[in-house]
Amino acid sequence: MFTPVILAGGSGSRLWPLSRQGFPKQFLALDGQGRGSMFQCALARLDGLEHAMPLVVSNEQHRFVVAEQLRLAGRVSDKIILEPMARNTAPAIALAALAATRNGGDPVMLVLAADHLIPDEQAFHAAVMSALAHATDGRLVTFGIKPMHPETGFGYIQCGEAVGDTGRLIVAFKEKPSLVLAQEYVASGQYLWNSGMFMFRASKYLSELQRLRPDILEACRSAFNHAEHDGHFLHVPAEHFALCDDESVDYAVMEHTDAGVMVPLDAGWNDLGSWAAIWDANEHNADGNSHQGDVMSVESRNNLVQAHHRLVATVGVEDLVIVETKDAVLVAHRDKCQQVKQIVQRLQVEQ
Ligand code: GDD
Ligand code: MG
Repeated sequence: MFTPVILAGGSGSRLWPLSRQGFPKQFLALDGQGRGSMFQCALARLDGLEHAMPLVVSNEQHRFVVAEQLRLAGRVSDKIILEPMARNTAPAIALAALAATRNGGDPVMLVLAADHLIPDEQAFHAAVMSALAHATDGRLVTFGIKPMHPETGFGYIQCGEAVGDTGRLIVAFKEKPSLVLAQEYVASGQYLWNSGMFMFRASKYLSELQRLRPDILEACRSAFNHAEHDGHFLHVPAEHFALCDDESVDYAVMEHTDAGVMVPLDAGWNDLGSWAAIWDANEHNADGNSHQGDVMSVESRNNLVQAHHRLVATVGVEDLVIVETKDAVLVAHRDKCQQVKQIVQRLQVEQ
């Protein structure tokens, strides 16, 4: 038995202009399969596993979207924690762990991102069950993916000796390496990608955070102690949470802990974090194009084109991402999709 924790408070800025501040990517249906939003898919993926009621950590701004998507998917969560501002995943998980231990319990938490595609759910369930055994033993478990290319947006795990039947000790963890390092890691054959899903006892996470980043835990504890429950949501107050550093669990804990264990996951996992990843995950026509909506193309190859409001036509272009929405159109090279974030940053400054 474990408690799922769904992290749904990211901004998804690399998927602009579809993903917007008011309606970020986790609430969009991006897999093109009609199975609901990424957030709803993260919940549905748990069906068939024995688990406690999921805990959701999201942003104050998105509380009604969260509640509505839970309702539409016929799911319940008695704990929806709302952050007043995004402070990344280390604090978000700390808030979840504080909530999970509030009444003296100490559940194993399965921390899930809300931006993943996992086609083989059986393989995912098997990996979760083996991770549960290690997490129950006090390990911080992460799920390792065989790397396909030197992606710089992921964490890399170097593994050591076996732990039990399925686990391997984590010898080194490097979050978002440079391209040169990522190339070395992939070529060495010794590293796996970090999937960004974790499993550990709530108390183990809190004690590692206390040891490695006491400032983050203190800020989260003080914010949590002042949080107010209105019957639907737990509202975390801005004046306390604002004092917390913005840091991901990968940098704050996973890079430094010596209690890390990796369980392999071979389930077709993909992080739909950028338009290039979405092109990868989607089906392509004979020319390698992935089209959505009203799209025409002539002598065009390997493009991702999404037309949401108007006809989009391409002639003689390759390796492009074109996303047309009501008020903005993105045209980007598929190799430069990580930089879409810079447009969003500029828009925020100029607004
Ligand atoms: N509640 C909350 N608050 N959730 C957040 C916040 C926050 O401030 N920031 C991010 N999240 C959520 C996102 O919505 C997403 O579901 C998840 O946490 C992961 O955040 P990302 O921002 O997507 O992380 P990443 O993709 O750059 O990196 C992580 O995932 C990679 C694989 O997908 C890391 O764990 C990498 O090591 C990993 O390889
Ligand atoms: Mg991600």
